[in-house]
Amino acid sequence: MNEVIETLRWRETANGAVLEMIDQTRLPAVFEYVSYDSAQGVAHGIRSMVVRGAPAIGVAAGYGIALEALRLCKQADNQFDQLLEIGFTQLEESRPTAVNLFWALNRMRACWVQHQSLEKNQLALALTNEARFIHEEDINVNHAIGTNGAILLSDGARVLTHCNAGALATAGHGTALGVIRSAVAAGKKISVIADETRPFLQGARLTAWEMVQENIPITLITDNMAGHLMSQGEIDAVIVGTDRVAANGDVANKIGTYMVAVLAHRHGIPFYVACPLSTIDISVKRGEHIPIEERPAHEVTGYRDYQWAAQGVKVRNPSFDITPAELVTALITEKRVIHAPNELTIKELFM
Ligand code: MRU
Repeated sequence: MNEVIETLRWRETANGAVLEMIDQTRLPAVFEYVSYDSAQGVAHGIRSMVVRGAPAIGVAAGYGIALEALRLCKQADNQFDQLLEIGFTQLEESRPTAVNLFWALNRMRACWVQHQSLEKNQLALALTNEARFIHEEDINVNHAIGTNGAILLSDGARVLTHCNAGALATAGHGTALGVIRSAVAAGKKISVIADETRPFLQGARLTAWEMVQENIPITLITDNMAGHLMSQGEIDAVIVGTDRVAANGDVANKIGTYMVAVLAHRHGIPFYVACPLSTIDISVKRGEHIPIEERPAHEVTGYRDYQWAAQGVKVRNPSFDITPAELVTALITEKRVIHAPNELTIKELFM
């Protein structure tokens, strides 16, 4: 499928392969790709949020391993296994909450084990193919989520979203924004209300940019305006993405999602979570066990070079929160929609 926004692209040149990623720290002011040729480089790109969003992080990590294997072949290093293992560790340590990172690395490891007896350059080729497969699969999954979720939105719906679960957060199409794109493609008139999403501003910078690119009507609000709009009857549905869903249906997503879910419940507005199966972590029983990333204080005290908070002030910056399953109207997966998700219905998804 040809995607309008290519968040990540694999390039093979005379000098070797590189992974190019749109630099999401600079959007929307600057649109540019940055290139990576090692696991360490990709891990840095993930940590510094050049690439972000759970599925996109997973795809990037897969390519990070492929790049590392190709690089180690060229060096003809006899410590291939040991150095590739370091590449895995660097990527695993890049960000803790989105389970797609670990899901993709597990797939790359399984591929490594399966092809361990091959020549190193053949193994590197197998790892590259696996990374490409993860990439393509993510696009297909998002289109399936879009088709399954579009049915839930009525013609004319005004849909609130939080953070960015769009093409930029995935290999293409998006999960939450994928549902909106698919509903629009099916001929529905949908308008989007985007929370700006403090402190990293994924809503204002990325969701708004994506929707403007495709002429999908969008209105930007600050995070503290959502309750007011709901109380005025200006929001018909909420759709968000997720970084990890626990076995009981609790949802980890961008900080502020819980607040939106509570408000939606108060106002009787459906709260949907677009969720690839790769984002469900059945090894974690409940949301409280999901690791929540704490990011640097400077993201809260200012933006880029400007600091507005008092020098020396104490800061908290948890990057994600947990929305209990009871507040989730439905999980929209590539397989099917699960209304009022719970341990049993989630387990059945994997049967
Ligand atoms: O810190 P980020 O920008 O990586 O957080 C992203 C989110 O919280 C998204 O909603 C989530 O990853 C789903 S993306 C399809």
